Amino acid sequence: MDLIIRRAVLARNASNDGSPSPQVDIGIEAGRIVAVEPTLAANAVEELDANGALVTPPFVDAHFHMDATLSYGLPRVNASGTLLEGIALWGELKPQLTQDALVERALQYCDWAVARGLLAIRSHVDVCDERLLAVEALLDVKRRVAPYLDLQLVAFPQDGVLRSAGAFDNLKRAIAMGVDVVGGIPHFERTMADGAASVRLLCEFAAEKGLRVDMHCDESDDPMSRHIETLAAETHRLGLHGRVAGSHLTSMHSMDNYYVSKLLPLMREAGVAAIANPLINITLQGRSDTYPKRRGMTRVPEMLAAGVDVAFGHDCVMDPWYSLGSGDMLEVAHMGLHVAQMTGTEAMRACFDAVTVTPARILGLGGYGTEPGCHADLVVLDARNPIEAIRLRATRTAVIRRGRIVSRMPAPHATLALEGRPAHIDFRPTR
Ligand code: FE2
Repeated sequence: MDLIIRRAVLARNASNDGSPSPQVDIGIEAGRIVAVEPTLAANAVEELDANGALVTPPFVDAHFHMDATLSYGLPRVNASGTLLEGIALWGELKPQLTQDALVERALQYCDWAVARGLLAIRSHVDVCDERLLAVEALLDVKRRVAPYLDLQLVAFPQDGVLRSAGAFDNLKRAIAMGVDVVGGIPHFERTMADGAASVRLLCEFAAEKGLRVDMHCDESDDPMSRHIETLAAETHRLGLHGRVAGSHLTSMHSMDNYYVSKLLPLMREAGVAAIANPLINITLQGRSDTYPKRRGMTRVPEMLAAGVDVAFGHDCVMDPWYSLGSGDMLEVAHMGLHVAQMTGTEAMRACFDAVTVTPARILGLGGYGTEPGCHADLVVLDARNPIEAIRLRATRTAVIRRGRIVSRMPAPHATLALEGRPAHIDFRPTR
């Protein structure tokens, strides 16, 4: 074999309280997992001792904007931290974008992602630009990172597919160039009717081309922004079940409860997934409220209970809208857990799934998992279970892509100089 990871704890076997969990050896050959057994009697070119640490398939970010990432400070910082200043900033930056700079920033972000064990990203790319400069740049990045990261691109008519002249033609050109997914932004169209019309237009186009759909949908605090209903109904009508996602869905936070009780079964029947972006939703939504101030994130636990797939996305890192972030999907899960008050044991585990297996399903990633036959894409975490991983935003001590170790990071520990106290601590209670 090429690589054996010894003494790994898989998420499904991990105890929740830090008590010992069953361990397995993972055998890897020619980029695939070939064996998962308690004790693997085989030799390998390289062995990695996980020593009881959690080993998972990689993190997946279902919602990102790679055309804007790492532009923080260009041409100036967002001093107020508001959505409106962010939009104004993006307007100032857009004419100054060059393909080379965009590619360089995206590649740098992908380096960060790899070190964080984030090996699949769905990124929206703005197509409201005749030159399609960002599309060309991110298609180039997609090709270049393919050996180590799956980059899926969404043609995103950021200024509205109906509202912005030429946007639908640009979107079609972007798809013809190789962009994977059809995007949209119905709540940004001029009227509710235009928003619904944009959903129909884009879903029909996706159905005709056999593509997936992921729309920025109802990213507003307006309880009457109900485009998710049209998105689910169109998904059902066109037979797009399992291929459509609604991103943000923040208006659902403020919707009437009776209306939501009808909406969630419709979403489940249509197989429409939801992608919440907790870091961004908690900072941008409810911003003009006085007190009480709404959280603004969509109804995550309620959707999970209704059988709707929910993933958490990062959305932004160091761009006009968000000055923070470093590609850490555990930070995203940590925020999602708090904002949605998902502190129950199973709920915390669901937050881990929301940055791993669920977005993998939404993106349609093949060969994702820890069973024999899956791609040998794995992350060794300095944690014993998913809950501890979220709590510590655990270090990815090793990241493996197609059987090759592509990143290593030493686990942190503090050295204390306190008389009568231990010399080293690692933030795990000793029993
Ligand atoms: Fe977004």
